[in-house]
Formats: sequence, C-alpha cells, structure tokens
Amino acid sequence: MFDFLRSDLTHLQAYIPTHIDSTALDRLDGNESPVDFPPELKQKLARNYQELIATNRYPDGGHGELKRAIASYVNASTPENPSITPEQISVGNGSDELIRSILIATCVGGGEAILVAEPTFSMYGILATTLGIPVQQIPRHEENWEMNLEAADQVISAQSSNQIPVRVVFVVHPNSPTANALTSREIAWLRSLPEHILVVVDEAYFEYCQHSLVGELSQHPNWIILRTFSKAFRLAAHRVGYAIAHPQVTEVLEKVRLPYNLPSFSQAAALVALHHALELLAPVDQILSDRQILLKQFQAQPALRVWKSQANFIYLRLAPPQNGEQDLKDLRQALLAQGTLVRHTGGGLRITIGTTAENQRTGDRLLKILGNEAI
Ligand SMILES: Cc1ncc(COP(=O)(O)O)c(C=O)c1O
Repeated sequence: MFDFLRSDLTHLQAYIPTHIDSTALDRLDGNESPVDFPPELKQKLARNYQELIATNRYPDGGHGELKRAIASYVNASTPENPSITPEQISVGNGSDELIRSILIATCVGGGEAILVAEPTFSMYGILATTLGIPVQQIPRHEENWEMNLEAADQVISAQSSNQIPVRVVFVVHPNSPTANALTSREIAWLRSLPEHILVVVDEAYFEYCQHSLVGELSQHPNWIILRTFSKAFRLAAHRVGYAIAHPQVTEVLEKVRLPYNLPSFSQAAALVALHHALELLAPVDQILSDRQILLKQFQAQPALRVWKSQANFIYLRLAPPQNGEQDLKDLRQALLAQGTLVRHTGGGLRITIGTTAENQRTGDRLLKILGNEAI
C-alpha cells in the first residue's frame, strides 16, 4: 500500500511545531517575543483590513511596498549603510519558505549537498531531505560552539572520491539552539569559500545580536542573508521572512516561489511593524538584561553547563554524567509539570527569554528541580 509515496520520507523526522492552547503555561520553547503586538497597532491593522484589503482579490504578488520598506529598515539598522535596494529583497511565508526556495534554486536535481554544523536549526536538513538533497553534517567545538572548520574544509574539498560536493553552506548568526554568534575565524572562513558555493547566513535573531553580515553582501555575490519578522518583531503568527541577496539571486528566488505566497493581511502586518519598528523593538533591551540575570543564576549551578548567549534564548546541558537524553527529557518534563515549556533539542535544553516574571519563574523552578532553592 502507498507505494506511490517516496520511501525515503518514511523515516524522516518532521519538525515538531508545538501549539499549546493553555495560557497558564510559560511558553519558552519557540524563541518568540514574549510581548504581543500593542492593542493600538492591532487596531490599526484591523482598520487596514476593513478599509484597504479586498478579500476577493489576490494579494500583491510582487510585495513591492513591503520590499521597499524592508530595504529601508535594513539600511537604517546596519551601521555600514549598505544601500540595499528592493531588488535585493525576496519575501517568504516565513524564512522557512525561503530556505526551501534556496534549496530548489540550487541543489534540486543536481546531486549536490548542503553543509550544516550540528547542532543547528533543524529545518535546513528537514527541507533538504524532503527535496532529495543530501545533507553533510560537521560538528562544532563544545567550548564555544564554533564550527569545526577543519572538518568543514575536508567536506568542502571533497577529497575522497565518494564524497558528494557541497553546493550550499547554511550558518546561523547567532546559532540556534546554541546561541553563539559567528566568530571572526568562522566569518573569515565564509569569506574564503569559492564563489560556486552559496553561503546562507540566517540572521533570524539579528535584532538581539545587533551584528550583521549585510554590510559585506556587495563583496560576496554568493551570500544570502535571511531575516524574519517572527522573533523580535512579534509577528510569528503572520509568517513573514525575507532574504537579502544580489539581484540576480533574488530574481531566481522569486521565480521558484509560489505566486501569491504571502497573504495580504501578513503583508499589511509587516508594513505596520516596520513603520513602528522602534516601539516594537523596545522590549529587546529588557530581554537582554533579563537574559544576563538568568545566565548568572544558571552559571552558579554546578549541575548545569551553560554557554553565553547572543540571542533571546539560553542553551544549557546537564553536567556529566547526567546529560543523557533521558535526563534532559526528565528535566524538560519536570519544568513543564511546573508550568514552563522549553525545547529539548541538539543534546540540550533551549530556553527562550520571556517576560521578567516568566524568567523569574524559570530560574526558581529550575533551581527547585535541581534541589537548590537558595542561591
Ligand atoms: C535560525 C532560524 N531560522 C529561521 C527560523 C524560522 O523563521 P520563520 O518563522 O520566519 O519561518 C527560525 C525559527 O525558529 C530559526 O530559529
């Protein structure tokens, strides 16, 4: 039965989106902003919906106005003032869609692979597998989660005859789940890659890290930067992501996507977000200072291994010998039983920074579970 389905998809582990209706839980598993859109901006959006959006008409399939607004935001928020034009922007139904478009535009049918450094964002590997694209994985150094560049070089140079050549390298800046920004060694390595290899720098957490490689795009036509409105801009519900690249690259991304990939309401929401960027991004400072408080609490626990973070989440493991998958599952479950939902991924726990009250509860609950209530 069902022989018409591709057999290689039978064992594919799909991305597991959590959707929990309980408002009683502290939902710290998705790296979303803990703060909803302000009511007055929701009202503005509702007015847009009533007055400007004709539901019988298809959305703007070219995303013209949104691309212009994104280009202005990117230029204004990048110190190098990179002069990005709207032709260098492609908009997706979340950056997930753009990842798939990139794979279609590069590897599909060509027999070449993508390279990822584990642990990292799982969708690169999942989407590649759904498209029949091989995934080459290299490890990271555990002290600071820098990629093992020697291993990467070996894979890239395809020294052994049975190695599949790499067409695309995916990096996250800062990485999820490990929260580290690219080091200068890693950036130098990316710069040194030959131009027939595409480098995708996923800057989903740019607004928290404030360091971007957009300023270098003009020197590297083989680079694509990905960003999203799902994190600091508080718009995860609307699924808006964008790619910044050379116009010839975005032209192909535009060809391979679906014609009306982004609903009118989502385009309107992203436009409102960009018009009110300062206000919407205001909680970032509080989130970063709460992160430092929580990090300090965790670092004081001998039972935990914690790494510094350049993003709105903290990655931790249990100190050996406790770091088995079952121990981590138990810890996640114990936190959940107390009302805090976190993500178990990449051999550790990834905990999103929430509101100050949520962060205090996270700290208290974790210490209680570890049997050390007094710090
Ligand atoms: C590194 C990274 N890239 C992309 C995404 C997906 O973003 P979007 O909601 O725009 O699809 C995520 C979401 O968690 C992420 O962590």
